[in-house]
Amino acid sequence: MTVVVSPLTPGFGAEIAGIDLRRPLDEGYFEIIEDALNRFSVLVFVEQALTDQQQIDFSKLFGPLETSVTAIRRDTKSRLRPDLAEVSNLDEDSEILGADDRRRMYNLGNQLWHTDSSFKKVPARASLLYARAVPPYGGCTEFADMRAAYDALTDDVKRKLEGLVAEHSIFCSRAKTGFTDFSKEEREQLPPVPQVVVRTHPGSKRRTLYLASHADHIIGWPLEEGRKLLAALITHSTQRQFVYTHRWRVNDLVMWDDRCTMHRGRPFDDLKYKRDVQRSTVSDEITTVEREGVRLVA
Ligand code: OGA
Ligand code: MN
Repeated sequence: MTVVVSPLTPGFGAEIAGIDLRRPLDEGYFEIIEDALNRFSVLVFVEQALTDQQQIDFSKLFGPLETSVTAIRRDTKSRLRPDLAEVSNLDEDSEILGADDRRRMYNLGNQLWHTDSSFKKVPARASLLYARAVPPYGGCTEFADMRAAYDALTDDVKRKLEGLVAEHSIFCSRAKTGFTDFSKEEREQLPPVPQVVVRTHPGSKRRTLYLASHADHIIGWPLEEGRKLLAALITHSTQRQFVYTHRWRVNDLVMWDDRCTMHRGRPFDDLKYKRDVQRSTVSDEITTVEREGVRLVA
């Protein structure tokens, strides 16, 4: 088999064919995939029939995996092992979640633009989402190219963003969907963290915006002013020309670079159809503040 990398747009998104992720990669294939990820940010591996362990083994080639936050939530008996995040609309018996289920409310946050785990001090490097069942329509995932969005800013705005740090929290994005039912213990486990607003993408040395609905405000700025800036930047970055929409097929594995993209799930008839998707998440190495060498204001 020969691996074929087919761009889905000129610079963002590529389909990878001719590779079987159930087996150890052939010599040189890891480098081809890593190069494609650095260049195209989102990779679609088609027709992969993977076990959980095969998804994990492939993911681990890129670094240590995160433990899903599912593990620290009080509502969950998860179907999945702790290194897989439950992104489906299913309960522990693989039945569709009821309308009032807390897990359904929590997962609604995935429909806001975000990058994974920016609410953790050391956020995600990359995510791999695997589809076992997909609804007949709806339930796409959209991805935004944050390097292209950065490039399109004026020099004035780029200067204004240098050195800015935003405070991110999972409870901020959840509050935006109206979900605030967290216990004191849950809140204490995930305190707010600082993340730079602009960073250098290590694999390409290109500058990129680093944003998410988890971002609440800019540290050291009046709350409202910071919120206004963050909202304006998200609106800018998610314009049509920066977005690739992935329409899922069963056995797709989609991998994305969390350091230079945002994504969001799109609605579907989730009380009627099963959407069985599970995510493994590769952790980054150090905090964004350390990597950028930014000094935090007190
Ligand atoms: C995720 C996520 C969106 C979707 O897995 O991190 O945000 O479309 N998923 O399921
Ligand atoms: Mn996500």
